[in-house]
Order: sequence, then C-alpha cells, then structure tokens
Amino acid sequence: MQIITEPGQMQAIAEKLRLNRQCIGVVMTMGALHEGHLSLVKLAQQTAGIVILTIFVNPSQFGANEDLHKYPRPFEQDAALAKAAGVDYLFAPEASSIYPENYQTTVECSTVTKRFEGELRPGHFKGVATIVTKLFHITKPHISVFGEKDAQQLAVIRRLVIDLNMDIKIIGAPIVREDNGLAVSSRNIYLSSQERNAATILYKGICHATRRIADHETDLAAIATEIEQMIQSTPGCRTDYICFVDDKTFEPVETAESEKEYRLLLAMYSGTVRLIDNMKIRA
Ligand code: PAJ
Repeated sequence: MQIITEPGQMQAIAEKLRLNRQCIGVVMTMGALHEGHLSLVKLAQQTAGIVILTIFVNPSQFGANEDLHKYPRPFEQDAALAKAAGVDYLFAPEASSIYPENYQTTVECSTVTKRFEGELRPGHFKGVATIVTKLFHITKPHISVFGEKDAQQLAVIRRLVIDLNMDIKIIGAPIVREDNGLAVSSRNIYLSSQERNAATILYKGICHATRRIADHETDLAAIATEIEQMIQSTPGCRTDYICFVDDKTFEPVETAESEKEYRLLLAMYSGTVRLIDNMKIRA
C-alpha cells in the first residue's frame, strides 16, 4: 500500500491507473477506522480493481462548537488497518494542501440539506459536498462507496453526482452494528460505559418501529412519538429528532402508504454525546 499526501501526486497516479484501464474505487473517511469503514473497503473491492482510501478530518464540515480538535487521529493504526484490508493507495493530505490560502470556491446542495443534520449543523453539508467534490477530482474514481449510516449525507452525494454530471457510480453500504445494535462510529469512543449502555435505546427504537409497521400500523407520526417516549424515559438520554421521511427527498411523511419505502431518521444524546441512526422501512 502506498501512502500519498500530495493532491498532485494522487491525481497523477489516478490518471495513470485510468490510462491502464483500471477501475478505481474510492472510500472517503475521516480516519479512526472501524468495522464500518472497512466494510466500505470490502464493498469497493468487489467492484473495483484498485481501491483508494482517503483519510482527511475536514475542518469545513465541523461547526464552531463541534469536536474538530478532539476528533481522534490514530494515523499509524489506521494505516496498518488499511494495509491489512488490502487498500492499494491511502491518500491522507494536509489541510493546507486541500484548502490553500485564498481558497474561495464551495459546493452547496439545497433542498435535501434543509432539515435534520443540515438544520442542526449549519454549513455541515456545504463542507461535505465541497470536500467530496474535491476528493473526487483528486482520486478520479469510477465508483465510490458511502455508508447508509449517514443517510442524509448519502442522499446529498447522490444528488451532487447527478446535478454536477459526475461520471461516478455511488454505492450505498449497509450500517455495521455492534452486537447490542449500536451503530459503529468513530465518535463512540466519547461514550462512557454507562452512556454506551443507555445508547442502545436507539436501536430498540428502530426495532420497535419495524415491529409496529410489520403489524400494519400506518400512522408513522404516532410511531415516532412512541420512540421519542422510549428515549426520553431512558436516564441520561434525550431525543434530537425522530422522523419518517421520503428516502430521496428527505421530506417528512406522516402516514405510510402500502408498499412504499421510507426512512426512519433518529438523532439523540446519550449524556453529552450525539448519536445518529436510521433504518429503511417498507410499509
Ligand atoms: P466518516 O464519519 O469517517 O465516515 C466515512 C464513511 O464511513 C461514510 O460513508 C460513513 O457513512 C461510513 N460509515 C461510518 N460508520 C459506518 C457504519 N457503522 N456502517 C457503515 N458505514 C459507516 O462521513 C464522513 O466520514 C465524512 O463526512 C466524509 C464523507 C469522509 C467527508 O469528509
């Protein structure tokens, strides 16, 4: 595995790979690699002959009061995990080479970012859309894999690729969970053992919704309220939002229609740690 830090060098390699008719698959991460990230690498390897993994803690997608400075950066460990997973190139640039002095161009995706993470984290998706576009230009992928864990981010990226005519196939990867149902995340290290136990209520809420829908309940707003009550009555936990949405537009939906697909979006705090989760649901 080759480690590359300069955008120009990464572009030259990607260009050469393309000229040699290699299929390039890219997995983008902010590092602190875990099973979720590695499942994306595995999926990319199933489609592409060459896999480029990017690690970049992107400052522009963090809000002023967020965890940019304490975000974990175990680079040596990440490089070892990437190598063991069979990654071909690890691209890990410095912030100064990605955002040089006098940098002034950004990418913004409008409607799908209006609510939920977009509303609660102003500027977050502008930062994501911008870095993802830049990393696409640097790594020149044919395919790129993103996790359903960040469902709204995946919807933004799917929109971005269509709207800007990017010739890249976006593949969504299922959420990897711990045995207790908690979605694996780099930020789970912030949880104390008590907060981690309490956080399992999030997946219990998802299972509750799945059961209620299997029982033919069509009042999605009522199910969301039930989950909210489950979370609010768990010591140390409070909800941020619980909502069923149309999977493409992220517009809220109150009543389920038969055979249609929705996504249940959940965000909550366990102590001071914010967790998000979601599940695709077919009525
Ligand atoms: P990061 O949070 O490091 O996540 C990188 C990728 O891993 C994303 O596509 C995310 O959805 C996926 N992922 C995280 N946890 C997962 C899990 N438990 N199961 C499956 N996939 C999971 O998302 C970002 O970084 C950044 O916003 C990025 C796209 C890299 C742009 O900076």
